[in-house]
Amino acid sequence: MVSIHRRRSWAIDERQATPERVYLDRRRILKGFGLGIVSAAGLAAVSTPAGSQEADPTADLYPATKNPAYVLDRSVTPEEINAHYNNFYEFGTQKDIFEDAQKLRIRPWEIAIDGLVETPVTIAFDDLVRKFPLETRLYRHRCVEAWSMTIPWAGFPLKALVAMAKPLASAKFVRFETFMDPEMASGQNNFLYPWPFIEAVTIAEAAHDLAFIVTGAYDKPVARQHGAPLRLHLPWKYGFKSIKSIRKISFVEERPVGLWEALQPSEYGFWANVNPDVPHPRWSQAMERVIHTGELVPTQLFNGYAAEVAGLYTGMDAATLYM
Ligand code: MTE
Repeated sequence: MVSIHRRRSWAIDERQATPERVYLDRRRILKGFGLGIVSAAGLAAVSTPAGSQEADPTADLYPATKNPAYVLDRSVTPEEINAHYNNFYEFGTQKDIFEDAQKLRIRPWEIAIDGLVETPVTIAFDDLVRKFPLETRLYRHRCVEAWSMTIPWAGFPLKALVAMAKPLASAKFVRFETFMDPEMASGQNNFLYPWPFIEAVTIAEAAHDLAFIVTGAYDKPVARQHGAPLRLHLPWKYGFKSIKSIRKISFVEERPVGLWEALQPSEYGFWANVNPDVPHPRWSQAMERVIHTGELVPTQLFNGYAAEVAGLYTGMDAATLYM
């Protein structure tokens, strides 16, 4: 597993050797747009189980009110760039999974909320999303591969969902699980990965203001390649913690092991807090490439959110913060 993993796209060494690939990739994307390869309708439509396209039943919720507390010192990554540079291993290990990800069937979509809660429930996404006021937040997104974007996500704080779930006192972690459907998602036939994709946070992290359930982006329902119909975003952690296309949210006592940690625990730790001083075993985390400008900028502790989240980790040393 390790040797295969070393050849995968998270292997930053290759990109560092040819940094212009990011730039070239961007030009290819923009060219594709000019040629009309992607239609706006294609981005906003929903697949029925039969695979036909129909209007998204949640489209009326967007644009969601902008929350002025989440503004940034950086420009927003243009949608056409973000929409074509993704990590979604269920649809392949490359960045250009956009087309394959359109196979993701996002209706019907139910989410099970179970484990150590007062009353386990299974709820349709279309009902869940209307239980909370939606808002738009501008968030930094820093991948462990040392690239970054700035994204206008829409959604609601994870803590609202935690409150709705009413976890028992014995619940210490929240575990998230993605769909499992190897017929639809060809990447799940790759037996080298321990599918389905799983991630987890502590209850305290889940209750933090910044932890966000994303249901929209760029003023419309979130696109399939970003993890429709709902995903997590934890802006102070490396991107692999922000699990896409969530099917199950479980409250548990034991610390769950996520897909990347299971695959390579010495490289992808449970905490995965962005920390420029703790290098990944195979590359530095001191700098990051801003995908839409090509600039190399210094990475900040907790991805620039230290004032907000450092208190969650009082007493932990820098190395522990990452692993
Ligand atoms: N969630 C699932 N289910 N599958 C994945 O492969 N990749 C993760 C995370 N969530 C991933 C996932 C990684 S490595 C990153 S950096 C982000 O999603 C990428 O999100 P984006 O494609 O919207 O930028």
